[in-house]
Amino acid sequence: MLYKNMKVVTSRGIVECDVQVDHGKITQIKKDISGEGVDFAGSLVFPSVIDLHVHARDFNEKHKETVKTCTEAAVAGGVTTVVDMPNTNPPVITSEVFKMRKSLFERESVCGFALNFGVVDAVDEISKVTPLFVKVYLSDTTGHLLFKGDAKELLSLKNPVAIHSDLETTKKWCRLNKGILYVCHVASKPEIEFLKGQQVIREATPHHLFLTRNDNPLSAVKPPLGSEEDRKALWSNLRSIDVIGSDHAPHTLEEKLHGASGIAGIETMLPLLLHASNRGLLSLEDIAVRLCEVPCKLLNSLLGYRKGFFVGADADFTVIDLKREWVINASEFKSKAKHSPFDGWKIRGRVVKTLVRGKTVFEVDS
Ligand code: DOR
Ligand code: ZN
Ligand code: ZN
Repeated sequence: MLYKNMKVVTSRGIVECDVQVDHGKITQIKKDISGEGVDFAGSLVFPSVIDLHVHARDFNEKHKETVKTCTEAAVAGGVTTVVDMPNTNPPVITSEVFKMRKSLFERESVCGFALNFGVVDAVDEISKVTPLFVKVYLSDTTGHLLFKGDAKELLSLKNPVAIHSDLETTKKWCRLNKGILYVCHVASKPEIEFLKGQQVIREATPHHLFLTRNDNPLSAVKPPLGSEEDRKALWSNLRSIDVIGSDHAPHTLEEKLHGASGIAGIETMLPLLLHASNRGLLSLEDIAVRLCEVPCKLLNSLLGYRKGFFVGADADFTVIDLKREWVINASEFKSKAKHSPFDGWKIRGRVVKTLVRGKTVFEVDS
């Protein structure tokens, strides 16, 4: 299959090109490739949008979300690969459950995936599985998967580690760390100020970038939303934010009204960032770095994936219309969580089509 007239967004600018795809892989990238093909008519395209922070639920929490609905929501939001979190029921803390989860994704996922592995105390299970990160919960959240082991022992294993933590504990883990440490959802000014000098991977979420503390139960989340000063500090330190991840954390409306924390954000992450780029808050290149290139490097180097924009990579593409105005309508989400603090926001920038391994898996209705 030949894709003509794409404008592919990369960190080095926009590449105008034709792309040949065979058996789901990119086999040629050139200014002009002769032959008949699908005309993208100069549409902007992101290659390999990866969301490194997704709670797909399923197992005993199918009422919140399933792998199928989560990944359908992903591709509707332009995300072509999700990385799943282990605070499920049952939790992904044994090699048996990890294998179960992997085959569940293989059966049900409509996009690419990788899995994280949880740890409470028994670190010996880690060597039996192949996660992207070992996810360590150092403060309480949904699932109560708190780490009770020894930080030094875990870090000495040299597995890439992702932490959910408060600032004091984050400082301690940064001090002890000698390998790859991924700090989830950096949410406050003191946190980003501390972390900008550290050799770690810093993630921010759309909700911490766009919202501040309020009493709407739909925006209850951990870590909590901050002040306007916290929010602004994230934007002014954008250079120190390596990854933007949705922290897609679906709950039913009823659970939210009873205090559950988490926002179903995978369908709105890229659109909100496109909107922000229209308002001059960041560039398309900035988005490509944080949603595509840094995550691709991690998946390729740690798990041997072939994600990105090069010959031999999986043909994962997200076509966007940067100028299209629309209103976020949570009742139309593919996610089972049909509510959002962004519901009703009028924004500019829309995902119009998503391809995973050369197959169209999402196309906007109108
Ligand atoms: O608000 C949150 N919800 N924060 C987390 O870290 C976990 C997530 C969830 O799984 O619901
Ligand atoms: Zn978390
Ligand atoms: Zn999370």
